[in-house]
Amino acid sequence: MVLGVESTCDETGVALVRGRELLGDVTATSMDKYARYGGIIPEIASRAHLESFVPTLNAALDKAGVDLRDVDAIAVSAGPGLIGSLTVGISAAKALAVALDKPIYGVNHVIGHLAVDELVDGPFPQRFVGLIVSGGHSNILAINNIATDVRELGGTLDDAAGEAFDKVGRLLGLPYPGGPHVDRLSQTGDPTKIRFPRGLSAAKDKERHRYDFSFSGLKTAVARYVESLRAQDQPIPSADICASFSEAVNDSLTAKAVQACLDTDCDTLVVGGGFSANSHLRALAAERCAAAGITLRLPPLRYCTDNGAQIAAMGSALVRAGVAPSSLDFAPDSGMSLSQTVMP
Ligand code: KG4
Ligand code: ZN
Repeated sequence: MVLGVESTCDETGVALVRGRELLGDVTATSMDKYARYGGIIPEIASRAHLESFVPTLNAALDKAGVDLRDVDAIAVSAGPGLIGSLTVGISAAKALAVALDKPIYGVNHVIGHLAVDELVDGPFPQRFVGLIVSGGHSNILAINNIATDVRELGGTLDDAAGEAFDKVGRLLGLPYPGGPHVDRLSQTGDPTKIRFPRGLSAAKDKERHRYDFSFSGLKTAVARYVESLRAQDQPIPSADICASFSEAVNDSLTAKAVQACLDTDCDTLVVGGGFSANSHLRALAAERCAAAGITLRLPPLRYCTDNGAQIAAMGSALVRAGVAPSSLDFAPDSGMSLSQTVMP
C-alpha cells in the first residue's frame, strides 16, 4: 500500500493506493485565495499546504479505512512545481517515512498525471504515447514503462495549453483561472467563426517541430482581434472567440498526438493533466483516435487536476517495477525533466 502526497501548486492531495486500486483520496485547494490576485501567490500556497496537510492526511486515511501503520511506501511530488509548495509536501512525507521507517519515492508529478489512469482503466499496454496538458506543460511522450522508460518526443516552445487558456480568459475579463471559464463559453460559440493560426503546423515544421507546440502566436492573434474590435467600439463576441481559439489549440494538440501514435506504431494514447478536463479536447481526441483506430485513455475529470492519487499511482508503479527508493536527502526540483520518473 502506497501513501501519495501531492503539493506541487495550490492543491494539497493525499491518497492511498494498493496495487492499482485506489482506497481513498482527499484534496484540499487554496485556489479561492488567488482570484483577487489573478494568479497563484507561492507564499500563500506554501502556508496553505502547511495548514491543510495533517487534516487532509487524516481524512484520506479515514476514507480509505486504513491505519498509517499499514502503509508500505510513501510517494511524494518532487517536481516540477513551485519550490515552496513542494518543500512542504516533501518535508511532511519525509517525516512520515522516518517515523514509520518506510521507503520514500520522490516522484515526477507530471508523469503522475498519466499514471493515475491505471487506477481507472487498468494496466497500461506495453507501449503507448502520452499527451500531457496542464497549466505548465504541453508535451508528447513515448512511454515503454511508466516507471522506468519515458522519452520526450516534443513539447511547447512557449506557453502551455492551460496557460494560454488562462491568458485568453484574462484578456476577456473572465475570473482566474480562466481555463474552465473559456471552456464553458466556448461551448456556446462557433469554432469556425474566426480562423486563428495553428503554430508549428507549416510544412517546414514537419521535420524539426513535428511533435512541438507553440501557442504564443495564437494568444497574440486573439489579443489583436479583441483590441481591434475594442478600438472600433464593437461588441466582443466572447463565445465565438473562445470557441475558435479552443479549436486552434485542440486541433494542434490532437493532430500531433495522433501523429505520434501513428509514427511510433502505438495503438494507445493516454492524456493527462489539468487541461485534459477541457471538453473540446476530450471530444476532439475521442473523434480523431476513433478515426485512426487508436484507443484513447482519459482519466475522469476529478483526476485531471492535481491530486494525491496520481502520486500514489506513480509510487505504486515504481514499486512494481522494482525501482530503488529515493535517498532521504533529495530536494524538490522545480524543473524536473520529464524523462526522470523518480529522484535518486
Ligand atoms: O495540471 P494542473 O491542475 O496544474 C498544473 O500542474 O499546471 O492544470 C491546471 C491548468 C490551469 O491552466 C487551468 O486553467 C487548466 O488546467 N484547466 C482547464 C480546464 N480545467 C482546468 N483549461 C481548459 N478547460 C478546462 N476545462
Ligand atoms: Zn499538474
